[in-house]
Amino acid sequence: MNPFTFQYPVKVVFNPEAENQVGQEALAFGKKVLIHHDSGAYLEDSGLLPRVRKSLDEAGVSYIELGGVRPNPRLSLMREGIELCRKEGIEAVIAIGGGSVMDSAKTIAMGAVYDGDVWDFALWKAQVKDTLPVITIPTMSGTGSEVSCCAMVCNDEVEPEDKRGIITMAIVPKVALINPSLQASLPKKQVASGCMDIISHTLTTWFTDSQDVYITDRMMEGLIESVIKYAPVVLENPTDYEARSQIAMAASLAVVFMCGFERNSCGADHAIENPLTTMHHLAHGTTLAIICPAWMRYVYKRDLPRFVQFANRLMGVPVDPFDMEGTALEGIVRFEQFIKDRLGLPTHMSEIGVENSDIDFLANVVTNNGTTTVGGEGPYKLDINDVKKIYEIAK
Ligand SMILES: NC(=O)c1ccc[n+]([C@@H]2O[C@H](COP(=O)([O-])OP(=O)(O)OC[C@H]3O[C@@H](n4cnc5c(N)ncnc54)[C@H](O)[C@@H]3O)[C@@H](O)[C@H]2O)c1
Repeated sequence: MNPFTFQYPVKVVFNPEAENQVGQEALAFGKKVLIHHDSGAYLEDSGLLPRVRKSLDEAGVSYIELGGVRPNPRLSLMREGIELCRKEGIEAVIAIGGGSVMDSAKTIAMGAVYDGDVWDFALWKAQVKDTLPVITIPTMSGTGSEVSCCAMVCNDEVEPEDKRGIITMAIVPKVALINPSLQASLPKKQVASGCMDIISHTLTTWFTDSQDVYITDRMMEGLIESVIKYAPVVLENPTDYEARSQIAMAASLAVVFMCGFERNSCGADHAIENPLTTMHHLAHGTTLAIICPAWMRYVYKRDLPRFVQFANRLMGVPVDPFDMEGTALEGIVRFEQFIKDRLGLPTHMSEIGVENSDIDFLANVVTNNGTTTVGGEGPYKLDINDVKKIYEIAK
């Protein structure tokens, strides 16, 4: 087993009224907070935002609100939030929403205490040393941003928009208040998209060139199996609290696996998905549903035993010792069927009307004009030509 150091600094409160605790949790960090959200009707209709305001009022914490976050969150709004925090003496940021809101809140929190331009962090020109404390109240499970060390930021000040990740343990939220029943109002497409995101996060680390990973293999297989089991249940019955809870817990755990333990992450589907999502303004999980199987079809021969394990343990394919390649391929076919039939998501760009995408441009973004690779240093390593071929498969 590879040596590792593991420390995960977030308090998770998980119950069907978790948001009512926000006042007390916020008080630990100060007396004035920013509430950040996407202004979606579900926030008022469900009573969530009123409950958060009430909890803060009761704790004696004052607040200002900044709404308007869009999917693939805008840098320009984050700048507004940063200015607001500085001007108003904000001591903590509360994110209520999906991954886009939570990432926007994390970026505001890091920018508010940084002298330079927050976009520096996305360009790796500066490292995040400090942030305002962030409390997350997720309304959608998928990204795991409620506990993750990542924020995806879309620079809408350039054309075409440039979306990048800021990844550092310094931005892990301080508290996550998780109430799975807040997700009952989610459209089915977003539920499916979130479930696809969880599977992709887990697989990205499950596909590894690290050796002796039995324990974490089995733990991650448990996560994926849980999503395969419960995703169709929540799609069928949006108010099933137990099923929602299984998905919500899987979402958070999936990103914790990505941030620690002993394994190299070799999946590259998020890196390849990202510019495609930005270019065509797609839902993150929908693009993953397209890229993930395409990536598998391209790389499976490079590590046949692991793809046979995927087919057998996760897709229930009996191992044919005389046809390992056939076993692996059947696993990929069943995975595509699950995405299409159980999640109701597309597995090719043509199915969502994305024709003639500029593959050269996309591959250049993924590999910084061919100067970098993705997928680790082992058999899954992908250069610009590999990435182009994966986009071709995904067409
Ligand atoms: N930080 C991370 O660790 C991480 C990981 C993966 C992806 N991401 C990023 O997160 C973003 C995607 O986030 P997401 O998939 O959670 O979606 P999202 O936050 O973009 O939200 C999608 C839509 O769902 C709506 N919505 C959210 N909760 C709702 C509810 N309870 N009821 C009704 N509507 C609701 C939102 O208003 C929005 O229109 C992308 O930018 C992606 O790149 C971040």
